[in-house]
Amino acid sequence: MSDKPFFYDITLRDGNQSLKKPWDLKEKLLIFDRITELGIKAIEIGFPASSKMDFDSCEALVEHANADTLVSVLARCNKNDIDSALLALKNAKKARLHTFITLSPFHTKNVLNKTQQQAADIALEAAKYAKEQIDSMKKDIDIEFSVEHFGDCRENLDFVIETLKKIVSLGATTINLPNTVERSHPMAFVEMIKKVKENLPPTTIISVHCHNDLGMATATTVESYFAGAKQLECCLNGLGERAGNTDFNQVAVALNNCKVETGVDLSKIYETALIISQMSQTKIYEKAPLIGPEALAHRSGIHQDGAIKTKDMDFGAYRPINPALIGRGDDEKIGFTSQSGKTAIYDIIKANKYPITIQESIFLTSLAKTLAQEKGELKNEEILSLYFEKICDIKGVFKLISFKQIYKNTFGLFFTFKGEKKEAIGEGNGPLDACVDALEKLGFEIKISNYKQYSLDNTIEGSKSRAMSEIWLEGLNNDKIIARAIDTSTALANVKAVFNGLNQMYK
Ligand code: KIV
Ligand code: ZN
Repeated sequence: MSDKPFFYDITLRDGNQSLKKPWDLKEKLLIFDRITELGIKAIEIGFPASSKMDFDSCEALVEHANADTLVSVLARCNKNDIDSALLALKNAKKARLHTFITLSPFHTKNVLNKTQQQAADIALEAAKYAKEQIDSMKKDIDIEFSVEHFGDCRENLDFVIETLKKIVSLGATTINLPNTVERSHPMAFVEMIKKVKENLPPTTIISVHCHNDLGMATATTVESYFAGAKQLECCLNGLGERAGNTDFNQVAVALNNCKVETGVDLSKIYETALIISQMSQTKIYEKAPLIGPEALAHRSGIHQDGAIKTKDMDFGAYRPINPALIGRGDDEKIGFTSQSGKTAIYDIIKANKYPITIQESIFLTSLAKTLAQEKGELKNEEILSLYFEKICDIKGVFKLISFKQIYKNTFGLFFTFKGEKKEAIGEGNGPLDACVDALEKLGFEIKISNYKQYSLDNTIEGSKSRAMSEIWLEGLNNDKIIARAIDTSTALANVKAVFNGLNQMYK
């Protein structure tokens, strides 16, 4: 076996057995196809002796599988289970029998009511029987043997290793070492893996199968890989008994981040995760790594700033991956709370296709923070409303009443200043010039140093297209003022922007 990890999927067996409503054949077929589309080449499809329904679905999945995919079925160490497993596999193109028994001191005594030696003898007898049956079928079916509760075998590890040597000599090619219940810490388990690996023939494939009772199954699996376990038993979305099995998504991405060639199609992870969640009726929790709705959300100002500055990079600030790696698309979420900063405001406005400068986002940030302190996280629409209200439509001492063309380049301007009516005719090179001229005649001098007009491509469908004017004015103390306004008439957008500027100048 190469150094590449060999992903062995257990969603249809360990995952399925823990569901409130186990999958029927139709559902299993659909999931089987998703697993192969991910590029996973080994799939445990069920436990034929557990029920007629499981036997039938194993048989059907065997027929359905292509010659490239290893299909495996589970059997306890007894003749009946092994017979029905082999019967289910009889038409397989590439097959495995997976048999298991515990050798843990606690479990043999308290659950099997046997000595460790009695359990080992059952395992040896089953391995021998399985090999004889497979040979008589003249089929190339390999054998995987699992020491259930291997993680609990620290005190009798030498005995377990001696038993495993015998099982390998009887024909098992893969030895699976489950952390059936996660009780301790990853490296304690990894040390045991290393010891088994050192003592078994180098051709034996070492496999790990970790449950996630303490939330460390990914860590244990990844570290076991680096300690020599090349087969990694994982479940999609970490389904499985209790807190689940090792999550395939997390392991595959973690190894990829460690520059290990995984051989799987990571870009299918997100889509598959959503399908599995729906089919298993198991919600993806908010904070689930990689696939959770919140997994790529940033709320603190420092994090938002780093994330936005490195948005399109593979190695991003404050995130483990570029979301595109798992096919997640560009949905890094920037939420605005009282902890957030100017970069978030800037990004939200830009993402909605409105122009904004950093100075404007600094101004809006303090308003948005005050609002978020009262309300909690602000929705994007609330940030946009602030932008329209406080940037594009500034209320103040000037109030525009009308601006109308009288003749060619002559315009009439009518407004109030501190409630007092003002009226003048302006002339110039176009409406903006004429507006400035009219204001000058009334004693309000303004200097325009820069001017831009945008056509807004976020105009609501069916409505007239809108323009935004951006006008840079020199304020009363020579400070620079940026004034914006939106209107369907470009001339009015300009005049409104001038009035927004005046309302910033005269407070
Ligand atoms: O968790 C476990 O030990 C198992 C075995 C059957 C491999 O699922
Ligand atoms: Zn398991």
